[in-house]
Amino acid sequence: MQHDSVLFKPFKLGKLELANRIVMAPMTRNLSPQNIPGDDVVEYYRRRAAGGVGLILSEGTCIDHIAANGYPDVPYFHGEERLAAWKKVIDAVHAEGGKMAPQLWHCGGMRKAGTPPEGDVNGYTPSGMNMPGKVNRHVMTKDDIDEVIASYARGAANAKDLGFDAVEIHGAHGYLIDQFLWEGVNQRTDEYGGSFDNRLRFAVEVIQAVRSAVGPDFPIIFRFSQWKQQDFAARLVDSPEGLEKLVLPLSKAGVDIFHCSTRRFWEPEFEGSDLNLAGWTRKITGKPAITVGSVGLNADFIPDPGTASFKAAEPASLDELLRRLEADEFDLVAVGRALIANPEWANQVRAGNMDSLRAYETDMLAKLV
Ligand code: FNR
Repeated sequence: MQHDSVLFKPFKLGKLELANRIVMAPMTRNLSPQNIPGDDVVEYYRRRAAGGVGLILSEGTCIDHIAANGYPDVPYFHGEERLAAWKKVIDAVHAEGGKMAPQLWHCGGMRKAGTPPEGDVNGYTPSGMNMPGKVNRHVMTKDDIDEVIASYARGAANAKDLGFDAVEIHGAHGYLIDQFLWEGVNQRTDEYGGSFDNRLRFAVEVIQAVRSAVGPDFPIIFRFSQWKQQDFAARLVDSPEGLEKLVLPLSKAGVDIFHCSTRRFWEPEFEGSDLNLAGWTRKITGKPAITVGSVGLNADFIPDPGTASFKAAEPASLDELLRRLEADEFDLVAVGRALIANPEWANQVRAGNMDSLRAYETDMLAKLV
C-alpha cells in the first residue's frame, strides 16, 4: 500500500472536508445503558478518529418518536442528558481532527413489543407487517407519518446544533423508511403505498423535512440497501432503470451523498457491468457515493451471496477496492468490522503495516475497545 494511495486523498463536498476516503460504517453496539452514550462510547469514537478515519458514522441512534427504538441499550438522539453525551462524542472526535455524522434511526416494525424502555409500544409499520404476510404491528396513520417525519427533522436539527459535520438517514436494512419502499410489507392504499413512487414518498418527505431543518449547506447522507435484516436475498430493484426510479427522486429531495449498503463491495449489482450498487448510484445521480461490504475482512466473515451464512467467499483484496476507487466508481469506502478489530485500521493501512492488522472476531462486540 502506498502512502499516496487514492484511499488517502482528501475529499471535499461544500463545507465537508475529509482527510481521506475512509468512513467508519454505522454499527450498533448495544452498550449505552439508559440510552445514553457513556464515556466509554466517547472514547471508542475518539480512538477511531485518532486512528485516521476520515468520516465516522455513528451507530444507529433513535429519533424522538415513541416507537423508534427496537433494541436494548442503543443510544437515543434526543433529550438533554443524551444530547449532552453526544456533544462529548463530537467534541472528542473533532479534537482528534476527525469528522462525524450521527445515523438517525427509526426501527419501525423491526421493533418488538416489550423493548425497553417503552415496553408497551408496538412497532410502527406501513401496513402492520415487518415480514410479508405477518400482520402483528401498528399500522401508521397519516398523523403518525407526519409525526415521524417531524421527528427525523428534529433529530437532524439536533445534529447540526451539536456541531456534527453531517447527518445520515438510515433508510436501509428493513427498518422503517425501507419498510415503506418494500412492496412485501407496504400494502397501503393511500398515497404512501401502491406504485413505486408512492412507496418512495415517505423517504422523500423525510429527506425534504431534514433538508428544511438543516438548511442548504449541511450535508445529508442517505443509506439504503437491497438486502433486509429479514431477507438477505431481497431486491428492491433489479435493473439500472429501476435504480433510477429510486435514487433520482431521493437525490432531488436533498441527498448529498448516497451510502449504498452491500455485503460484498466487489459484487456487480446488475448483469452486464462490473459496477456495484454505489457505482451505479453515483453514475445515475452524479452525487458522491459510499461503498461498503467486507472491506479488509478475513474470509471467515465474508457473507455468502443471498444468505446469512459466512465462510465461503474469498475476500477481495484492497487492490480491487483501490482499482474501483481510482476508476471513480465511488468516492468513499465504509469499513465496519475491520474497524472494530482495529481502531487504528486507517493508519495501519496507510503505513503499509498489513501484518499488524487483527482479524475480526464476533466476541469483540462484547465490549467497546
Ligand atoms: C452493523 N450494520 C449496521 N448498519 C446500519 O446502517 N446501522 C447500524 O446501526 C448497524 N449496526 C451494525 C452492527 C454490527 C455489529 C455490524 C457488524 C454491522 C451494518 C454495517 O454498517 C456494515 O454495513 C456491515 O457491517 C458491512 O460492513 P463490514 O463489516 O463488512 O465492513
